[in-house]
Amino acid sequence: MFHIFNIRHSKIEPVFNILETDVHNHLLPEVDDGSGSVEESLNCMCVLEEVGFSQMYITPHFQEPRFPNSEGDIKNRFVEFKKDVENSGLYMNLLGVGGEYRIDDGFVRRISQDSFLTVGQDEYILVELSLRQHRMGFEKTIYDLQMAGHQVILAHPERYHYLATNSNMLQQLKDQGTLFQCNILSLSGFYGSESRSRATELIEKGWVELLGTDLHNETYAKALREATRSRTVRSVLKKYHFLNHEL
Ligand SMILES: [Fe+2]
Repeated sequence: MFHIFNIRHSKIEPVFNILETDVHNHLLPEVDDGSGSVEESLNCMCVLEEVGFSQMYITPHFQEPRFPNSEGDIKNRFVEFKKDVENSGLYMNLLGVGGEYRIDDGFVRRISQDSFLTVGQDEYILVELSLRQHRMGFEKTIYDLQMAGHQVILAHPERYHYLATNSNMLQQLKDQGTLFQCNILSLSGFYGSESRSRATELIEKGWVELLGTDLHNETYAKALREATRSRTVRSVLKKYHFLNHEL
């Protein structure tokens, strides 16, 4: 029904079944720059199943003023969407809804309210940084969260060019206990060769605990299908252990 990407002769191997769980994507419809409709989300989830994922968390953006989402609203939308998934015939297990929290002024205010949507049994908070601008002191914000008893996952560290030359800062984040989540599409070259080599380096150092799709829409879904054939992706999945299914 939803197999819109099934092109004849393009057999896809479910290489991501070893991960089981996707921990980062934007498939809750119409709440951020991710999926624009229920139909698009179901199409993308169909591809996630096809490439081997059987369960997932959804992690919409929380970023002011661009995506002024509230936890309550996102939870309600998730309950509605879960019904759509159950009625769709897909077998994907929707484990829950978290967030991808941009570390900005709004996030710093949020820490005092201590209300976050989290992923996993240990209630991990997924955070991201600006791709362009280094926010001075962001590591202290992460540290404050950790001191308040939260587990923190940094989304796609390979995508922040200003961290690439700052291995001390990356080391410090690891020493603080920050988990790193790289994007599968970084490994396949979707964001360019620099993100690919940075992701590979971080994984080779043993600093990356999680892989995520960061799937936004059908373009990403198509790229994810292609990533199943990527040599880098396959070799990483073979050589390294990730915690996706243990989260
Ligand atoms: Fe994301």
